[in-house]
Amino acid sequence: KITRKFVDGLPKAELHVHIEGTLEPDLEFKLAKRNGIDLGVSSPDQINRSYKYGLAAFLKSYYAGMQTLITEQDFYDLTWAYLKKMAKSSVKHVELFFDPQAHTSRGISFSTVINGIHQAAVDARALGVDAQLIMCFLRDFSKESARKTLIQAKPYHEKGWILGLGLDSDEHHNPPLKFMMLFAKAKTEGYHLTMHCDPDQVDTLKHIKQALEIIEVERIDHGVNIVADPDLMDFAIQKQLGFTICPISNLYIYHDMKAKPTLELLKKGALVSFNSDDPGYMGSNYIDDNYYKFAEKYHLSREDLVKIAKNSFLSSWISNTAKKFYL
Ligand code: ADE
Ligand code: ZN
Repeated sequence: KITRKFVDGLPKAELHVHIEGTLEPDLEFKLAKRNGIDLGVSSPDQINRSYKYGLAAFLKSYYAGMQTLITEQDFYDLTWAYLKKMAKSSVKHVELFFDPQAHTSRGISFSTVINGIHQAAVDARALGVDAQLIMCFLRDFSKESARKTLIQAKPYHEKGWILGLGLDSDEHHNPPLKFMMLFAKAKTEGYHLTMHCDPDQVDTLKHIKQALEIIEVERIDHGVNIVADPDLMDFAIQKQLGFTICPISNLYIYHDMKAKPTLELLKKGALVSFNSDDPGYMGSNYIDDNYYKFAEKYHLSREDLVKIAKNSFLSSWISNTAKKFYL
């Protein structure tokens, strides 16, 4: 039987969490106060975290929430709150997404964002959590905006503060190919590459194909629709491509945990990991809740969860030496 204690004690890596998506109403309320922003509410529980259905509706709520993040200290506090929680549930390694364009587009400087997040990552080492950063481009912004963002990131990438690149936000009419040249350039600069292919998007299989065959990503964020193309799925398994799957996020955004394709991928031996995506907007369900609730509902065994946790390290971007320690 799976217990909370078992899940909490299992060493694991989180590979798919948007740091801005970890913003809990309590902290949002506190930051609004500190920054003199009127949220129009008198307590944190009045902050609306609800959205109806689909990616666009979720994103609207997500971008609204982050307006209270202004100073380096705000980004530090956000990241520190998340990493402190992770230390308590045996999360040893985190690859954190951040969305610089969501901040630079409202006048916050790139350095403010990354300095705050990075300092919290440094301080979290004392808690036994190794945190690295993945910079995401917003796919509904222009190529030119992404290009500028890559230039802003350069000095930080060279210092080793940014491990990889991702692609997120609204997928509709924003295929991986839109950023083909930029990702090719980033690859030569030594970035690891991943991309979101959210569930059930328009042209969803086409996007997965582009990400795998043309961009040559090392992981896919979500990617559950690949099961509709058995050849492509076999290819991904052969290549040991990681699938960073987020069951509770799927439940919140698509009203479906997407258990069927997730279980099929697991059964076929794909490197599936479980992750939290945006826990601050999804009922405070963190990575441990994703392990526990999925396992309970779909009767996974302890061995299954050990496998998923091993997959999380296998598909992570830690060194091979460090990997051996966890496998
Ligand atoms: N940004 C934050 N969460 C996201 C998700 N689940 N899909 C796409 N973009 C996102
Ligand atoms: Zn995501």
